[in-house]
Amino acid sequence: MATINRRMFARQIAQYSFGGVLSLNGYSLLKGGMQGGLALAQENARDSVKPDLYFHPGDPRNGEPALAKLVETWMTPVSQFYVRSHGLNPKIDLANYRVRIEGLVDHPGSWTLNELAAKLPLVSVTCTLTCAGNRRSEHSQMKPVGGVQWREGAIGNAKWEGYKLSDVLQAAGIQEGARHVWFEGVDEVKDGNSVFPFGGSVPLAKVFDEQDGVAGAILATKMNGEVLTEDHGFPIRTVVPGYIGARSVKWLGKIVVSDRPSPNHFVQDVYKMLQADTAVQRDEAAPIYRYPVNSVTCLTEQVTGAKATVKVRGYALPTGLAANRIKRVELSIDGGRNWRDATLGSEAADYCWQLWEGEIGLSGKPTELLVRATDSAGYQQPERVIWHPKGYLYNGWHRTTL
Ligand code: MTE
Repeated sequence: MATINRRMFARQIAQYSFGGVLSLNGYSLLKGGMQGGLALAQENARDSVKPDLYFHPGDPRNGEPALAKLVETWMTPVSQFYVRSHGLNPKIDLANYRVRIEGLVDHPGSWTLNELAAKLPLVSVTCTLTCAGNRRSEHSQMKPVGGVQWREGAIGNAKWEGYKLSDVLQAAGIQEGARHVWFEGVDEVKDGNSVFPFGGSVPLAKVFDEQDGVAGAILATKMNGEVLTEDHGFPIRTVVPGYIGARSVKWLGKIVVSDRPSPNHFVQDVYKMLQADTAVQRDEAAPIYRYPVNSVTCLTEQVTGAKATVKVRGYALPTGLAANRIKRVELSIDGGRNWRDATLGSEAADYCWQLWEGEIGLSGKPTELLVRATDSAGYQQPERVIWHPKGYLYNGWHRTTL
């Protein structure tokens, strides 16, 4: 069976839909038959829209947008949405694509896209995804750390559509003793001489932690109303609101229900907070799940006609907890002695960032603008964080020279 990629799939569907043929190499089209195929083909036309990102050298595809563009809208356009991939985008053979489910379940098996669409209700979740390494370049200013030197752009807010993971697990029948759910991508990550898939893991309780209609985790097929792009995990990825991006596994191939977190390298060794990257500390530390409160200034703009005034704009992210919002964003231009409130943007939702803006009068000398956020759960950004060798979860006060 020939391997087809997302673009070829779209092209072929466009062709076949007009002819009324509703299946492609045995893969019948999404719910909605010919109409669905046509819509999908149209949606896929946007595949020609290239990501508008700065790609970091080194690892496969790691790109972030220009910060000024990042805060133009509350919903991040797909072209401006950061990409973080540890391996090359896999070539997906859609004709044979299935998500397998195994482990502590009564009915191990697999789902095609079609089966998901036919048997489960479509749901949507709007949430912010952020890489644990966002702002690592600032952390590196204390003392350099390895890894992609992300600026402040490894973050974005999107509407994700798909199926509740809890529905998939319930259909499989969860067995006694189940506590964690593992995800495995079909991509191949190289580390020295080994090659293995990217993996994630979440507590089972998080999957069922649905609050105010926001599912604990979904299997997403669409992002901002469009079929997922290859970079963002086409055809299916997990999306776990409130958790670091690493737990939202792209190109999903396998789900395993277990009594313990996944043994995958990216759960057991990589995404952990350590004081020293030693075997002892790696085994002692729990995987990172939730992201902390954060805020960043992204745009500074001189106000026309008023030489000494600048408009500033940025984003603030509440700690990844249910029913938690940004309570305030504060600005200081005297090293943190005095703070005043920035104006929060009107758009906000659970597990989402909030945009903010403010106006700063300048003295003529270079001024350092500080920003810090506090969320309704009571968490506030610290002035500094303690250096650690991985540079994850950096959330010290953000500093911009005006
Ligand atoms: N899933 C797979 N299969 N492979 C990956 O390399 N990267 C993870 C996660 N899911 C990754 C993955 C990381 S570290 C992040 S931050 C998010 O995907 C990034 O998602 P995005 O590229 O859609 O922004």
